[in-house]
Amino acid sequence: MSTLEIAKGIDWVGVNDRVTPRFEGMWPIEAEGISYNAYLVRGERMALVDAAKDWTLDTLLLRLGSLVDPAKLDYIVVNHMEPDHTGVLRALLRIAPKAQLLCSKRAVKMLAAYYGIAERIRPVADGEEIDLGGKRLRFVDAPMLHWPETMMTFETTQGVLFSCDVFGSYGAFQGALCDDRCRRLDFYEREALRYYVNIVSLFPKAVLKALGKLETVPVRVIAPSHGLIWRQSPRRIIELYRRWAGYALEGPPAGVTLVYGTMYGNTEKVVDAVATGVSKAGLPVEVFDINRHHPSYILPAIYTQRGVVIAAPTYEGGLFPPVAHLLDLVERKHIAGRRVAYLGSYGWGGGALREVKRWAERLKWVMEESLAFRGGTTPEIIEAAEALGRRFAQTLSEEAA
Ligand code: FEO
Repeated sequence: MSTLEIAKGIDWVGVNDRVTPRFEGMWPIEAEGISYNAYLVRGERMALVDAAKDWTLDTLLLRLGSLVDPAKLDYIVVNHMEPDHTGVLRALLRIAPKAQLLCSKRAVKMLAAYYGIAERIRPVADGEEIDLGGKRLRFVDAPMLHWPETMMTFETTQGVLFSCDVFGSYGAFQGALCDDRCRRLDFYEREALRYYVNIVSLFPKAVLKALGKLETVPVRVIAPSHGLIWRQSPRRIIELYRRWAGYALEGPPAGVTLVYGTMYGNTEKVVDAVATGVSKAGLPVEVFDINRHHPSYILPAIYTQRGVVIAAPTYEGGLFPPVAHLLDLVERKHIAGRRVAYLGSYGWGGGALREVKRWAERLKWVMEESLAFRGGTTPEIIEAAEALGRRFAQTLSEEAA
């Protein structure tokens, strides 16, 4: 893949990563990959906006070097300090001896802490502009998206917003870098949601505040630091973000995420019955086996639907641990306000239901229904599970009406 001019005098010079198995060491990207989007802005002076992970330096320099002499860079814009964007910084500063780092004031201490960089830093303020001669960069403060120091950069002559993690997605490029050439928009929208829920969603008020700021900015292109560049429909990803942030504050629509875990298949036997009941009541249901789906993929379903069914057995007097791990992540992501039902098998004293009730209290979820059964299933239990699914869905529908 070569560079791509995304707007007049602005080129993508980033890197595709199909090697890293887990983003941030925990979110799976083995199948999807990811890109680190860096951009060269050329006026009379040159700026590199965003960079990439440390080991990608060679590819980044090859791309950059195919357009300009990297030694002549005047500025490197650090919108965000997380090392997937800054790992190459120390090397870049050696290669480009006159380049200054442009970053928020809050990033200055981080540059010292992560890389021992204390010189050639020019902190920029919200709304400040730097004239590149024919190109102009304006800095937009965006704290807590998703670190304290984060900001965005807007190139005013072409209307390109370098939004860093915001509006980004997992997924390495597969030929097309921009939405106008992409034939797999559904893939990038799905991965943008997964990225949003995994990485950005903890701060919905900060998201909405940043979206409010952008209302007065004439954005023609959204160029995030991961994934698809939105050149044809920048409003599309902005509206998706508005909807997703709204879910955290006003709650998502009715729908059911059914997460199950099973040791010997007894709990699994009620799963289809519950799903059938939900479906017969007219609501969508997404089913996940906790042992075959990483929480990274389950969290977006829980984030975007109001109902959660947990089907999991008792294990050593408590909830099946892989499901408890999922709920721990739900708590860390502050996904509150869901309605929950529980089903599961136990061998002697039970205990999973008690733990689900405790989780519901901690998560500020409402416990609606439960069906704990000893050992295997019977036709009566299967019938009761379907009825439970139907009642649960009806409750969700009535609440939404
Ligand atoms: Fe793409 Fe917050 O790192």
